[in-house]
Formats: sequence, C-alpha cells, structure tokens
Amino acid sequence: MTVETEARARPAANAARPLLRMQGIVKSFPGVKALRGVSLELHARHVMAIVGENGAGKSSLVKVLSGAYEPDEGTIEIDGVPLARGTHAAIDAGVAVIYQELSLINDMTVAENLFLGRMPARKGFVMMREANTMARGALARVGLDNVPPWMRLGDLPLNKRQLVEVAKAIARDARILVMDEPTAALQSHDIANLYAVVRRLRAEGMGIIFISHHLEEVFELADSAVVMRDGATVGARPMPEWTEADLVQAMVARNLESFYPWEAREYGPVVLEVRDLASAPLLRNASFTVRAGEIVGIAGIAGAGRTELLKTIFGALPATNGEIFVKGKKVANHSPTQGVRHGLVYTSEDRKLEGLVLEANIEENVALSSLKALASGGFVSRAKKRKLAQDASARFGVRASSVLQITGTLSGGNQQKVILGRATATSPVVIMLDEPTRGIDVGAKSEIYAHMVTMARAGAAVVMVSSELPELLGMSDRVLAMYRGSIVTEIARDQADSETVIQWATTGAGA
Ligand SMILES: Nc1ncnc2c1ncn2[C@@H]1O[C@H](COP(=O)(O)OP(=O)(O)OP(=O)(O)O)[C@@H](O)[C@H]1O
Ligand SMILES: [Mg+2]
Repeated sequence: MTVETEARARPAANAARPLLRMQGIVKSFPGVKALRGVSLELHARHVMAIVGENGAGKSSLVKVLSGAYEPDEGTIEIDGVPLARGTHAAIDAGVAVIYQELSLINDMTVAENLFLGRMPARKGFVMMREANTMARGALARVGLDNVPPWMRLGDLPLNKRQLVEVAKAIARDARILVMDEPTAALQSHDIANLYAVVRRLRAEGMGIIFISHHLEEVFELADSAVVMRDGATVGARPMPEWTEADLVQAMVARNLESFYPWEAREYGPVVLEVRDLASAPLLRNASFTVRAGEIVGIAGIAGAGRTELLKTIFGALPATNGEIFVKGKKVANHSPTQGVRHGLVYTSEDRKLEGLVLEANIEENVALSSLKALASGGFVSRAKKRKLAQDASARFGVRASSVLQITGTLSGGNQQKVILGRATATSPVVIMLDEPTRGIDVGAKSEIYAHMVTMARAGAAVVMVSSELPELLGMSDRVLAMYRGSIVTEIARDQADSETVIQWATTGAGA
C-alpha cells in the first residue's frame, strides 16, 4: 500500500492545551482487568516516564494509545481532537510507538521499514529517489548518517535497528513518541546515544512517553513520572518531587527486604569444569571451575563473548576447542539435549528468539523442558504437569489469570519469569542465567535474587551473565571478567568493586 506525501492536515498546537489527553481508559481481557480507568496528560517538549511492576498495565496503555487495543471505556484526545479508533488513525494523528519487542522486518531494506506501507508515491508509483532522500534525513536525525537506506535491515546490529525504529517515527512526522523499555536490549554507550536522540526530539517539540524498569534512567531522562499499579495510576509528579524510594514504594506498595539477599554459603565439590573452551569466532579461550553451591558472575562488555560462553557450555554453540566436564564426566557430542541430560540449564537473554513458544500456554511452556522428568513409562500425568507449572509460576510470582493463559499475552516481564520458572522446574546441576532480570520490575528482581540463593543453597552451581554491574556485584561469590572472547581474570567477592570490574572488562587488564 502507498500513500501520497502531501502534509497531513492537523490542528495547530496550543501551548496550554496538552498534546495528549487520555481519560478514564478501561481495558479488560478474559480474567484480568488490565486498565481500570487510567487518565494522563502529556505536553509537548516533555518526557514522561511510566513505571510500574510487571503486569501493571503499562504496555496495555500504550497499545490503547497506538490503536492496537480498543479500549472498553475512555477517551483519547490529541491537541483537543478526539482520536479515532485503529492504528492508522493514531499514526495519522502523529503517534509513534516503539514496542518492547522490535517490530521491524529484517528482510526489508531500511527505507522500506521506515515507510512501511507508506512509501512516498505518485500515481501509484513508489518514488525511490524521494524515499531514499527522506530516509537519509530521518536517519541523520538519529545519528545513523552512515547507514545506507537500501541496506537490508537484518544486517544492522540490534542497537542500530532500535534507532531505525526512532527514525521511522520521525519519518512519519510523529509528535508523540512512545518507547516501551527501549533500552532493555542496549549497552551503555548505545543508551547514552538514545538519550541524546530523545533530548533532541524533545527540544524539537515532541512529547515523549518513556517506559522503563531502570529508575536511574527515569531520573536522568524524564521530566515527570507516572506510577502504575494494578491497572491504575497511583502517582504522578514532576521528577524533582520524586525520590527513588518514593517511586519504588508507590510501585510495589510493600516494603522490600534487603534487595540483594546474598549470604555466605558452604560449597560442595566442583560440578562444572571448563578447559580451554572456544567457539570460533567469538569465544576464544575460557577455563574455569564452579563448585556446587556457588554463584559465579560473568562480567564483560558487548561482544566480550559472555553469551557465547554460556551457549557453548550448554551445547547450543559448537565448541571448536576445549573440554567441558559436568560432575567429572566429560560432555561429548554436545547439543542442548545432551546439556539437559547432564543437568545443565540455560536461560536466554532473548525471550523472543529462544525462550518461549508464545502461542502455547504457561503450562505447556514449563513442561517443555521437563517432560522427561515428568514422564513415567512414557506417560505424562496431567496433574503433574499442572502442578509443575503452578509451582514454577508461584516461585517467581508470574502474574497471569491461570497457567492456561497463552504466554504471548503475558506482560514482557512475566514472560521472562516463565522462562526462569521453567529453567528451575527440574533440579539442575548447573544453572546458567543470561541477563536474568532484563525487563523485570524491582520487586520481582529481588525475588529472583532470593531464588538464586535458594538454588545455590540446594547445591546448584549458578552462573550468571549480567550487564547490570550492581546486580553482578551484589549477587556473585566470585566474578569472572571476559574481554574479547577470553576470561581474563577472576575477582573474589571482597575484591570486586565496580572500578576493578570495569577496568578488566574494558581493557582486559588490571589497574
Ligand atoms: N492480549 C492480551 N490478552 C490477555 N491478557 C493480556 C493481553 N495483553 C495484556 N494482558 C494482561 O494485562 C495485564 C497488563 O499487562 P501489560 O503488558 O500491560 O503489563 P506491563 O505493565 O507492560 O508489564 P511489563 O513490565 O512486564 O512489561 C497482564 O496481566 C497481562 O497478562
Ligand atoms: Mg510491558
């Protein structure tokens, strides 16, 4: 489909009138009321953060605004004009949403993605040269001057694809930009870059809604913050009037116990030994051991080979050199199936690609990797399966109407909790967690940490990759730093401070 490129008629902006007004928005799904009458106002030149626990209703609110969900009740006005139903009306009114999971199409070019369904056209012919010129303009505004518009999108790294999403909003003349956890998959310097883009767009007059579980980001970037809880807004203040403690309190409505429930533990024998492990080209050389009951953190910057290390141990990437021993037994002919058989589990950082079957319900997803444990004589008891799924959900407080809810309809953070619940449903020997708290709210994070300790105390060896330094330092007994594909040092807990870890992770050497 194509549309002509004439400017769309819009009412003139009025400084006093809010750019966006949502009033009394109600949205129910079978078994859950996602939004119970939410109202908010967003002004031009303003960044508003929305924070709240997993399942609070943040993404649902955004989907109502974008026209993806039709509200049961409530009104939306943009510049005082009621917004018609549907996604096209929202786009025409200047609403652009960048979802929690990117929505671009890898097999199309950058330009095609930017104008998806609305390539500049005249008399039905797509104007390629105009499309490329407009694309270059939009790309330049997000700092992607070097990206050719005809490049295949999938050939760009993830951090750049994210910026293409922002460029797409610009190409569509958006006045309201909504970003649902935009930094979840980004590394720190990409985050800084995204902030700079957001600030520029704000200065140019956009109104921006920013959803994040990272409160430090909220304090750095937002002008105001709205807290959602159980489908309602429970607080809205300009940023200077919030403290971090107030925000957390408003989000979880209960007192959090010590955030990092780390404690010293007795260790058992070595259960995982890795010798000179490599998986060309990204993993070059890793040797280390982990004892039963230990929690080992792996630090490193993007591209250091952390995920590749876990995947190679698990059997999801081929080892091109080296050996792996689990409980002293050499793991040969390695594959994920073999890995599971040896008692290894691995939870991926990317729940969309490798984590879950989104069309299946929670019960099916939890049972997936534990079928062997459940089957006796080839027969899987329904009741056992149900129980396993219920226990797994309860362990991490998955917020769902029941274990029969389709996983794809869970909130982002709750999908992550299902992955963790599944991984820990059996009693693994070694549990490898890749960015386990990505997209997880503060309250649930603390529950996940507590469970890591419980698993370690029960004798599991826990290996965690995390880009969040506080969590790495807060939870690890020992930190291994990776640099350019190799483990370059091992730092004991009492020596592991952020300076030391950053030094090793960024230079591959000590101070
Ligand atoms: N399409 C749907 N079908 C059924 N339930 C849904 C659907 N979309 C959302 N929900 C439910 O609505 C509630 C709110 O979910 P929502 O995705 O808005 O939460 P969120 O605040 O974005 O959480 P997170 O921080 O985990 O992303 C959840 O209980 C979720 O399961
Ligand atoms: Mg969400």
